[in-house]
Amino acid sequence: MYVAQPIEWTDQGVVMLDQRKLPAEEVSYTYTDYRAVAKAIQEMVIRGAPAIGVAAAMGVAIGVQKSTATSVDALKRELSEICDTLAKTRPTAVDLFWGLERMKRHFNELVESGTDLDAIRSGMVAEAKEVHKEKLATDEAIGRFGAEYMPTEGQVMTQCNAGALATAGIGTALGVIRAAYEQGRKLHVLVPETRPYLQGARLTAWELHRGGIPLTLITDNMVGHFLKTGKVGAIVTGADRIAANGDTANKIGTYAMAVLAKENNVPFYIAAPISTFDLSIPDGEHIPIEERSAEEVTHIRGVRIAPDVHAAHPAFDVTPNRYIHAIFTERGVAKPPYTESLKKLAAAPAKHSVHG
Ligand code: MRU
Repeated sequence: MYVAQPIEWTDQGVVMLDQRKLPAEEVSYTYTDYRAVAKAIQEMVIRGAPAIGVAAAMGVAIGVQKSTATSVDALKRELSEICDTLAKTRPTAVDLFWGLERMKRHFNELVESGTDLDAIRSGMVAEAKEVHKEKLATDEAIGRFGAEYMPTEGQVMTQCNAGALATAGIGTALGVIRAAYEQGRKLHVLVPETRPYLQGARLTAWELHRGGIPLTLITDNMVGHFLKTGKVGAIVTGADRIAANGDTANKIGTYAMAVLAKENNVPFYIAAPISTFDLSIPDGEHIPIEERSAEEVTHIRGVRIAPDVHAAHPAFDVTPNRYIHAIFTERGVAKPPYTESLKKLAAAPAKHSVHG
């Protein structure tokens, strides 16, 4: 089945598919400067929390590789500037900070083991490639755990794009749907367009269509109607940050979808890797919500659709844990109470599966 490739490390640099141009054009750029990688993350050339984590790791690797530093101390100072620049791009997606921390940790390990400058540079590139490689296995495991919770046939709903484009693997929410579909479950996906950036209409519809999975595109204000008809068997979405108590930030509109799901007795699930957990914060009140440009609301692809008025654009909202039936991760399925199950999964060895 077709799997989109949003990012790749090559000898020429970091190659990213420009997701702003999909589905009309498939254009990729090669990045050789970490500042340009940061700009690409900020401007949504690449988006989706886990894919942002991969881009951040590769941004660090390209920064270190291209650095002209002649001592480990000088390179360390540059590394901190590189990480600060990348950290300022998308505040809600915690995978960004996870990717940066992982690269910093690896740098320190290389320095502590007395590795020379050239080997530090190549070691950092290898680590970024490893971060990317792990995404595939992670998503496949999430898909396997989550697929069991999908209906054997009928409609399922998602939000935004939590597919291969968003993870650099096979996708989290779409990975679950894909795994269930490959098992023979006869699923039909309802895809809300996801205003204002239209990740549903542009990206999820594109990925599912390419993968041969049946879908129906709907507008965001049709969500309640379709849930009320009683023909949606489950909802599965991705996440940008999951607090210690299970409160989950995801694309704006997810909260309303979860509340409507409860009202209509439709199970609502989150699919996300452990790297999306933020157990340092007790609840969703502590999740920073990215405020994006109002122009993304007043304009669609550069064309003004509203008068010149004030417009708001919180890019994410927080779904309280009480609306979430389960969280699918690569180490197993977390169930309420999340304060216990998430902690247990985060501490579990990577290769084991723990049902929370
Ligand atoms: O603003 P975006 O497109 O980066 O938002 C993406 C989402 O909200 C996804 O659902 C989330 O990052 C999970 S992706 C597997």
